[in-house]
Amino acid sequence: MSAFSTSPGTRDILAPDAARWRLFQEVFADVVEQAGYGYMIPPMFEDLGVFLRLGEATDVVTKEMYDFEDKGGRRVALRPEQTASVCRAFVQHRPTTPWKVWYAGPNFRYEKPQQGRYRQFDQVGIEVLGVEDPHLDAEVIALASQFYTRLGLTNVQLSINSLGDAGDRQRFADVLRIYFESHIDRLSEESRITLTKNPLRVLDSKRREDQAVIADAPRIRDYLSAQAGEHFAAVLAALDAQNITYTIDDRLVRGLDYYRRTTFEFVSTALTAAHTAIGGGGRYDGLVEELGGPATAGIGFALGLDRTLLACDAENVFPAPASRVFAFVVDTTGGLEAAKVCHELRSVGIGVDRAFDGRSMKAQMKAADRSGAMVSIIIGTNELEAGQVLIRPMNSGEQYMVERAQLLTAIRQEVINFQ
Ligand code: HAM
Repeated sequence: MSAFSTSPGTRDILAPDAARWRLFQEVFADVVEQAGYGYMIPPMFEDLGVFLRLGEATDVVTKEMYDFEDKGGRRVALRPEQTASVCRAFVQHRPTTPWKVWYAGPNFRYEKPQQGRYRQFDQVGIEVLGVEDPHLDAEVIALASQFYTRLGLTNVQLSINSLGDAGDRQRFADVLRIYFESHIDRLSEESRITLTKNPLRVLDSKRREDQAVIADAPRIRDYLSAQAGEHFAAVLAALDAQNITYTIDDRLVRGLDYYRRTTFEFVSTALTAAHTAIGGGGRYDGLVEELGGPATAGIGFALGLDRTLLACDAENVFPAPASRVFAFVVDTTGGLEAAKVCHELRSVGIGVDRAFDGRSMKAQMKAADRSGAMVSIIIGTNELEAGQVLIRPMNSGEQYMVERAQLLTAIRQEVINFQ
């Protein structure tokens, strides 16, 4: 029988990388919890209708949804992102506003798998419901930026745009439709189809044949209402006040349809692959209403964990955390002494591992090397009889003998030496 392996676009995240993923989430939690965001865990699947609000002309909805009928005949979908779920939860639970939440976890999109693009990918993100203040837009962006700094990333660029209010968006969409229709013969087949559904999404086309027409297309900034324009100016002023650098990109429309006013994206210039967007977000005033709730402002972002770690690799920052195993017990007397030493050290919080199955001294020393431990504790027949143990720091090789009763004190001293 042939062995199974992971489905396309999914991966096993093994040690030590999986520890790095966990640390990534812990650092994110630290950054956003100190700004008052509470952790929430939305379900992995929801009623398909929740996700249809992401936009009927978006690839996420039309091509990439993992939707199916469950055994009870319900039409459900694996979540392709978590913003819609957060808004659904807001409508369901009606928490007091401002409601500031953060989340982490996998999402599912049936995309063409490649480097930096997976069918199961992780995000960390925040959402705030019930606040219209443009200073919040800047706070949300500042938190993403602070998190990148905590990871050690320096080659991250922020692009920002305003898509205006629903009315502005509609007016702009109408103008765009007329413009693109007058150049339809110069558009790609795909963009012609997109145009019938949502002309804004044509701006997002990466196809070479569309670029000339897109370059001369009308600009959203000329269609913003006075209020949306003022809001955007206030966001930029607040970013300036916090010394956050950005580029205004009035072609930035993003891949989901719920955005209003502020939209933004973070790109890693250290990544050379096709997928350099390591995070993005924006306002989605109106989404809560569409999900059956009261008119409520909303804003947030999600950062792609998989892709951000690729950016960390490219910049050589945020390595996997070091092994938690500080000591490795090499016991050639049958293993009982190793069991006692491990129990003793672990119960006072010192990481320790050992070999099993009565392996040879040589094999156990190799295992000690592989474990990433800083010291090995060697117990042979002579040591056992003399009531002693041999301690060998892995780097210097200067081993020394201690009384068995003094082992804990000696190891504690080694922990200090290695700090
Ligand atoms: P998004 O731009 O679709 O936005 O995804 C955010 C980030 O998730 C992307 O910048 C990218 O790093 C990562 N990502 C997306 N798809 C994949 C994939 N197939 N493989 C690997 N990484 C991927 C959202 O999801 C919105 N919910 C963000 C948001 C929150 N807007 C407001 N609040």
